[in-house]
Amino acid sequence: MSPVKRPGILRMSPPVQKPKGTSVSAIRPAAVVVLAAGEGTRMKSATPKVLHQLCGRSLVGHVLAASRELDPENLVVVVGHAREQVAAHLGEVDAAVRTAVQEQQNGTGHAVRMALEELGGAVDGTVVVVCGDTPLLTGETLTALAGTHHADGNAVTVLTAEVPDATGYGRIVRDEVSGAVTAIVEHKDASDAQRAIREINSGVFAFDGQLLADALGKVRTDNSQGEEYLTDVLGILREAGHRVGASVAGDHREIAGINNRVQLAEARRILNDRLLERAMLAGVTVVDPATTWVDVTVTFEQDAVVNPNTLLQGDTHVGQGAEVGPNSRLKDTRVGAGARVDNTVSDSAHIGADASVGPYAYLRPGTRLGAKGKIGTYVETKNASIGEGTKVPHLSYVGDATIGEYSNIGAASVFVNYDGESKHHTTVGSHCKTGSDNMFVAPVTVGDGAYTAAGSVITKDVPPGSLAVARGQQRNIEGWVARKRPGSAAAKAAEAASRQGASED
Ligand code: UD1
Ligand code: CA
Repeated sequence: MSPVKRPGILRMSPPVQKPKGTSVSAIRPAAVVVLAAGEGTRMKSATPKVLHQLCGRSLVGHVLAASRELDPENLVVVVGHAREQVAAHLGEVDAAVRTAVQEQQNGTGHAVRMALEELGGAVDGTVVVVCGDTPLLTGETLTALAGTHHADGNAVTVLTAEVPDATGYGRIVRDEVSGAVTAIVEHKDASDAQRAIREINSGVFAFDGQLLADALGKVRTDNSQGEEYLTDVLGILREAGHRVGASVAGDHREIAGINNRVQLAEARRILNDRLLERAMLAGVTVVDPATTWVDVTVTFEQDAVVNPNTLLQGDTHVGQGAEVGPNSRLKDTRVGAGARVDNTVSDSAHIGADASVGPYAYLRPGTRLGAKGKIGTYVETKNASIGEGTKVPHLSYVGDATIGEYSNIGAASVFVNYDGESKHHTTVGSHCKTGSDNMFVAPVTVGDGAYTAAGSVITKDVPPGSLAVARGQQRNIEGWVARKRPGSAAAKAAEAASRQGASED
């Protein structure tokens, strides 16, 4: 069986786009700082907020992926609450990430100070700050922000957005005459007039590294939360005569911060729609986007078809013209070109080209189905290599097995792999026909071209080309019902049958 190739993959991640006329190196930030020290109490969860999952990635994982598109010299994540757990996760998703510890969550300004300390103090060049709870933010938007910041020669540039409901967000206060940003006022500290402002702070900024460090030293804590607000840096820099700029995001949904599970579900919907739209525009048929859920890591080839109620997760790939679903969950599964997978749960399996799986199949890790093979209805497989053209059509369990090419496994067969202590392997050759209701008691081998009789319990190797019969001989005890169950309905039916037989003779 040949390994599944990965030709012409349609990547779901967005392409990196640099603003026109700005070179990549000019806008390459010295550092991106990701704020992720908060607990996220409103999630009401034992899991730290930034570790909650969205389309196959943690919230902070999405932010890191977008940040990486800026190609920063340093990527620092500020951790605090559950920091061992968060740091361990960061190591898994992005080994080059540095962490800065913020022991107590004294505010976003304090958090950025901790990051600068980790970097050895003030930094030359641009420092981009993002929050760990804004997973919809794209690398494209970050790149545009860094580009504007650089082109305008700003000390700070804040990413803002007009939102329908600004409750809870910091408001962007602008000069009435010039329109320039003068300050950011937190919701809790805002006047009624300021609360009417619908332009909000996304929490994403580009700073001049040196000026940021100076200004952070001047941030006070005389606000409603008694915290060091990063947002105060804008007013401080402006009062010192520096250029303060704002870049308005085209789509306000992109900067949404996740604070509770309602927002988590809304963000999942938005991201999923984004991924499906990209797939559809690249030639994938998604019959019902409302009930199709994909991870960012899923890839397709052209003319793949996804039927309703289908979850595609992890490193799943759907080949050219293959059709998956309805009602299926495929994780880390490779579906070959032209294959059909119906009503199936699959984890870490390879399905060959033009193969057929389901309805109602369960493919567990290590399943490899060859081209044109079949894993049919109510069949479970695990660590099983099933060769080209081989069929396991009905009601069977195939665990720890190697089956050759163009064999047929009879209905209701079990590969008996477990003796109560360890697992053993079964080998079935090519062009075999095994009978229905067979038990293959591993370790055992059935040679090429062999047959087995229905109802056999195969405990001994079957030589190539033989027929194995391994079941009790049938014995008929005539007249047993008439003797042992006289007068019963069964006895009467038997008597009638024998009279009929006699008259027909
Ligand atoms: C913050 C902004 C607000 C903005 C909003 C956007 C401030 C003072 N306010 O408010 O203007 O509209 O984000 O979503 O910056 N964090 C730390 N350490 C801390 C405090 C927070 O690392 O001491 C992290 C949190 O984990 C989170 C991020 O900073 O990832 C934002 O903190 P959060 O408490 O959610 O701030 P908001 O009240 O939403
Ligand atoms: Ca927030």
